[in-house]
Amino acid sequence: VNTANTSMWHYWKYFALGIEYTVGISAISVVLGFLIGILLAFMRLSKVKVFKWLGTAYVEFVRGTPLMVQILFVYFGLGVIVNIPAVISGIIAVSLNSGAYVCEVIRGGILSIDKGQDEAARSLGLNSHDTMFSVVLPQAIRNIWPALGNEFVSLIKETSIVSIIGVSDMIYQLKIVQADTYRGVIPIVITMILYFILTFAISRILRHYEIKMNSKMNR
Ligand code: ARG
Repeated sequence: VNTANTSMWHYWKYFALGIEYTVGISAISVVLGFLIGILLAFMRLSKVKVFKWLGTAYVEFVRGTPLMVQILFVYFGLGVIVNIPAVISGIIAVSLNSGAYVCEVIRGGILSIDKGQDEAARSLGLNSHDTMFSVVLPQAIRNIWPALGNEFVSLIKETSIVSIIGVSDMIYQLKIVQADTYRGVIPIVITMILYFILTFAISRILRHYEIKMNSKMNR
């Protein structure tokens, strides 16, 4: 006799916990990835050859290997030295991965700012540091805002792979619910819909701020 409770409502807490992990890991990683990305972009744009080379090598290597292997490497590789929880390994790996992708977005954004902006700021007496941080970078970030939003949406989906190291994200919970209910497909459908609600809501919210930001800036 199958005594399992097969009502999906019964398992809402599992799905909710999965959402918490998925959104939490993605949100933290997109912020850390952004900071890593800025650093890498400056390295790649630097005149110092070693920095340039290191930045480029990092980006190429990270983008040329699967996120899945990077997650396994951070979890089991770091695990040899220190004992860190799977969720922390997941955040580290996803942030390091995201940084490489965001670097290219930021680098493109900086390069897209007209040289005249730089020259005008310099001729007004700003040094190169202030020119970068108060003239060029703010404009670059405004231009790449939609791409950064896309990165957040990508991470919501890409973090599904952290379930392989046992992080209790949405995919992990999906498997628990499947095993508990003996239902193969319904939990998948629910998970899929939940992912879509998340990504759709995030793009809507970001779009809202994008419009707001543009109407404030474009006089
Ligand atoms: N799934 C691909 C991989 O395993 C793409 C990762 C995309 N990462 C990102 N931060 N946008 O490499």
